[in-house]
Amino acid sequence: MQMEKSSARDVPQQEVKGSVARDLFTSKLGVLAATLGSAVGLGNIWKFPYMTGTSGGAGFILVYILSVFLLGLPVLISEHAIGRTAAANPIDAFRKESKSKAPWWLIGTIGILGSFLILSFYTEVSGWVLAYIPKAIDGSIFTTDAAVTEGIFVSLITNPVTALVVQWLDLAIIGLIISLGISKGIERATKLLLPILVVLLVVVAIRSVTLPGASAGLEFLFRLDLSALTAPVILSAVGLAFFKLSTGMGVMMTYGSYFPKDLNIPNNAVKMALADMSIALLAGIAIFPAVFAMGIKPDAGPPLLFITIPTVFASMPFGQFFMIIFFVLSFIATIGAQVSLVEALVTFLQERVKMSRKVLTTVSIIALGAFGSMAALSSSTLADVKPFGLSFFDLFDFVSSNITLPIGGLFIALFAGWFWGKEKLFAALTNNGTLNNRGIVSALLVVLRFVTPVLLVIVFLHSLKII
Ligand code: PHE
Repeated sequence: MQMEKSSARDVPQQEVKGSVARDLFTSKLGVLAATLGSAVGLGNIWKFPYMTGTSGGAGFILVYILSVFLLGLPVLISEHAIGRTAAANPIDAFRKESKSKAPWWLIGTIGILGSFLILSFYTEVSGWVLAYIPKAIDGSIFTTDAAVTEGIFVSLITNPVTALVVQWLDLAIIGLIISLGISKGIERATKLLLPILVVLLVVVAIRSVTLPGASAGLEFLFRLDLSALTAPVILSAVGLAFFKLSTGMGVMMTYGSYFPKDLNIPNNAVKMALADMSIALLAGIAIFPAVFAMGIKPDAGPPLLFITIPTVFASMPFGQFFMIIFFVLSFIATIGAQVSLVEALVTFLQERVKMSRKVLTTVSIIALGAFGSMAALSSSTLADVKPFGLSFFDLFDFVSSNITLPIGGLFIALFAGWFWGKEKLFAALTNNGTLNNRGIVSALLVVLRFVTPVLLVIVFLHSLKII
């Protein structure tokens, strides 16, 4: 958890029986920056563009946007509300907040497993970003020839040694940041650097849309063709909405447990979702016009960012300089997301096992290195191992994004809408009646009860070909 500690004067410590008093975030901006620090990452610059490319463009984007508002956002708000009320890790939060004996805490457990699965492939992709920093510096990827950039990417991922080294280096960096306790510093840095990354994306987007032949890319992004919307495409857009908002697994519940009592939760969540979605769309506008202009296949899959982005930089003034900054800032953005995932894991272990934070962090990092290797090696040594027809990389991605997050989201919505109690939800979201937002909260309750769960069940049944 990246957090800004408050001084006792700023915000009172939140005391909850049976749990350690928690330091709270200090300001509204601090909360927004911290939650965005987890949300913005590879999901925006890598996953959103490549999935849009493999899923046919505009139709996928439309379902993603609808999923953010109807599915992800209500679940995000619920997570924040439950987390702040319980002031505990997700598993204990459900134990405290559910009055019945029903095993709601299982949602927290699924979430912890989900974070492990996400990290297993996320650390590999972050490793690719890391590996591109020296390549940007030595100029080896500075070319407008997509065949060359593709070759460089393929040789990076098909070499088992480099694939493992970059992943483990990334994990070592995350482990160090957490055990040195400098994630607060990283968060402060993110606050400054994220706007620079956004500006850089705007610059790249402008270059991209002005390339000759770029309009086909804009058409791909914005001309609606619903024929591409098959059941798996819809499910993956739903999964992406949860993945992007870091919601459906308890990470955001942990963040909620650090929120000050006077924070307007729905307001913060809406701002967070809008900012996060805009950054994803911006990355799409930076990439797709160039994809079409450079003759790259839009459905290239996970390599898309790494093949395309260097060619855009190579076609603009001061391109190499901007490219170095781009990969450095992108790497820093991925750190925020990874730290939030690892800290969720470590905080959970810490409240359970009597071991120091350093030891638990080290154990988690080693376990992730061992397990994640299966994803790292899925384009080389383990290329032929395909459980359920998917490589380990794709399997971890599929299971975490398309199964654990939406299932977690479904149960969180059911809990908040039906089981937690209307009074508790209203108390948490209106700050005990001090905010003037009862209308909004009432509308949210209807969505949580009827819209989110029903849509999620339909999407699941549809993708299982039951309806
Ligand atoms: N939202 C992050 C991203 O888009 C990934 C993430 C998912 C982080 C779930 C935390 C929890 O990169």
